[in-house]
Parts: sequence; C-alpha cells; structure tokens
Amino acid sequence: MKDVIVHPGPQVEIIDSPIPHPGADQLVIKVVVSGSNPKDWKAPEWWKISANSGDDIAGIVHSVGENVFEFKPGDRVAAFHEMGTPGGSYAEYALAWQHTTFHIPKKTTFEEAATLPLAAMTAAIGLHARLRLPEPWLPAASPIPLVVYGGSSAVGAFALKFAARANIHPLIVVAGNGASYVETLIDRSKGDTIVDYREGNDAVVSGIKDALKGAKLSYAFDAVSEKGSYQNIIQVLDPHGNITLVLSGKEYKEIPKTVAQSLANVGSAHGDNKDFAYIYFRYMARGLHEGWFKGHPPEVVPGGLGGIQQALKNLKDGKASAVKYVFRIADTEGAKSASL
Ligand SMILES: NC(=O)c1ccc[n+]([C@@H]2O[C@H](COP(=O)([O-])OP(=O)(O)OC[C@H]3O[C@@H](n4cnc5c(N)ncnc54)[C@H](OP(=O)(O)O)[C@@H]3O)[C@@H](O)[C@H]2O)c1
Repeated sequence: MKDVIVHPGPQVEIIDSPIPHPGADQLVIKVVVSGSNPKDWKAPEWWKISANSGDDIAGIVHSVGENVFEFKPGDRVAAFHEMGTPGGSYAEYALAWQHTTFHIPKKTTFEEAATLPLAAMTAAIGLHARLRLPEPWLPAASPIPLVVYGGSSAVGAFALKFAARANIHPLIVVAGNGASYVETLIDRSKGDTIVDYREGNDAVVSGIKDALKGAKLSYAFDAVSEKGSYQNIIQVLDPHGNITLVLSGKEYKEIPKTVAQSLANVGSAHGDNKDFAYIYFRYMARGLHEGWFKGHPPEVVPGGLGGIQQALKNLKDGKASAVKYVFRIADTEGAKSASL
C-alpha cells in the first residue's frame, strides 16, 4: 500500500509498505479520507523523527481483531489513530483501537468525519475532563462565563460546539480571520461575543472585560497557548480560576500558582482517559446523526497523499483559518484505491 513518511521540514515521502494487521482490540481501516493536524509537522521537526504522523481516519473497516465486537468489515467509521505508533492515517490502510473508533452516520461524509477525531477529542478533554465543566447531557443550569481563545481553530471551534450543547454561556471567543465562522457557533442572545485578537493585546483584554460585564471569569480554554494568549487571559481570569492549555513541553511561568492549570492532552484518549474517549466518540456520532454536532469545515487538498506536504506547510505558515485540510486517498497517484 501507499504510505507517507513525514520528515522534518515538512518534507513528505511516499513509500510502499505492507498493509498492517490489527491487534486483538484494533481495527484496520481502509482510509477514504485522512485529516491533518498541526502536530503532524511539529512532531517530526521537534523530535527529529520521520514517521507517518497522520492520526485522523475516515474510511471503511477492512479487518478487525478478535476482541472487536462493535465493528465489522464494510462499516463506515472514523477513528483517532494512537499518536506516535505505526499504522498512521496518511496511507491506504491505517490502524485504530476499538475505543477510539466510531460509526459515521449515513448523512455524514468521509470528508466531514475526517476533520473530527483528534481535534474534537482534544476539545472534549479540555472542557469536560480538565476544566470539569458540565457535560452536555447534564447542561448548566446557571450562567458560566467561558473564554475560548482561538475559537476558529479546530480545537477551539469544537470546544464551542460542546460548550453550547452543555448550555455554557456567555462564551467569550477570541478570533480573527475566522470570526464569521465563529458567529455560526455562538448565541448572542445568551451573551456570547467575539473579541478580535488582530486589534492587539490591550484590546483583547479590555474586550474580554467588557464582555464579562462585571461577572467573575473562572474558566478559560486556551486553544492557542502562544502569541500572548494566556498572558492576556490571566489579566481577566479569577486568581483562583481554571485554565486549560494545548501546548505541551513548555512552562507557563506567567500563570499565577493559585490558578489551576491543566493540559488538554489528546494522547490521554489512549491512556488515562480511555473510558472518557470511548463515551465521547460515540456521543459525537450521535450528535452528527441528530444534527447538533458538526465537523470543522473541510478543505480537500488536491493530489491525495501527494498534497500532504503543501497542507502541512500551510499549517506551519499559519495559513489555515477555520479550515481542516483533508486528503482523499483515491486522489493519490498510484494508489490502488484510485483504480478500483
Ligand atoms: N495538547 C494536545 O493534545 C493538542 C491537540 C490538538 C491540538 N493541539 C495544538 O492546539 C493548537 C490548535 O490546533 P488546531 O488543530 O485547532 O489548529 P488550527 O485549526 O490549524 O488553528 C488555526 C487557527 O488558529 C487561530 N489563531 C492563530 N493565532 C491566533 C491568536 N493569536 N489568537 C486567536 N486565534 C488564533 C486562527 O484564527 P483566525 O483564522 O480566526 O485568525 C486559525 O483559525 C495547535 O498548536 C496544536 O498543535 C494540541
């Protein structure tokens, strides 16, 4: 099968590899559409590791391990591949664990489904496992102001979708070029608002203060975690408030010790948060079916696997705005699926 190796740069190489075999609790999925994430270029560059760094899978079940009971060959599924392990999504076939795989409703396209797994799970973990905000099935009964910094990013936008479902308002959303997309996710009648980061740090801080109208801010989801984001947040966050961040491997020294600080680390879906991930992925499938949950706006990159290098470069250059780059594997030159 065609398989992609992402080298630092990002430089992408397409090689031929054997189709993987599933472990007892795993599935092999014939990838129809693969999604991308910023870490796909970051990991090879920071850790000097060349690998298939794709983790978002949408496709058709090819084979299942002996313990798999929820899925069978031929099922339409999406899955979050375990980061840093073989069998990534930038290939004709990829590996996933049963608990991080979910059925795709009939009306959901593979393109939409491929935008979901990693980013939506990060959002769920940040909001509900780290900040411990109300679950969408036990919605908030009174106002809970929440700042979502980077609301048009994939992670930020999914956080807004879960927060709205959990009746968490007012949502004070920091966004720029993607503000018009954020507008479709918020409810101004419940006090939600957008603050434009392009007007500078002082304007962000005063914009958040104005939106709070004197209310205490106890929760912030920082889906940017750089470029001054958390430095701005802590100027408005209660000294005993809670902030969840997305970038690992750095110290957030400016955040006061009295503030509860956490990392929305999606890798925990294959670690401490296995049960959480199992439940939330199935809940997402239900949300897609019922229509209250949606993917991030997909942009199909020409060339299938051959388009990955340009897409990762765009992510590195900060060109992605309210968009998720996805790849149709059948568009790849020489891919077997293209000739079927
Ligand atoms: N810890 C984890 O497990 C984990 C998991 C997933 C992602 N991450 C990290 O989380 C970050 C977001 O990932 P993603 O996939 O959501 O990225 P993304 O969708 O590619 O992010 C692009 C968005 O970032 C927004 N943005 C850029 N600078 C901003 C600023 N200064 N203030 C507000 N918004 C800003 C842009 O907003 P506008 O277009 O509105 O200008 C754009 O829509 C990345 O650094 C990623 O590596 C970490």
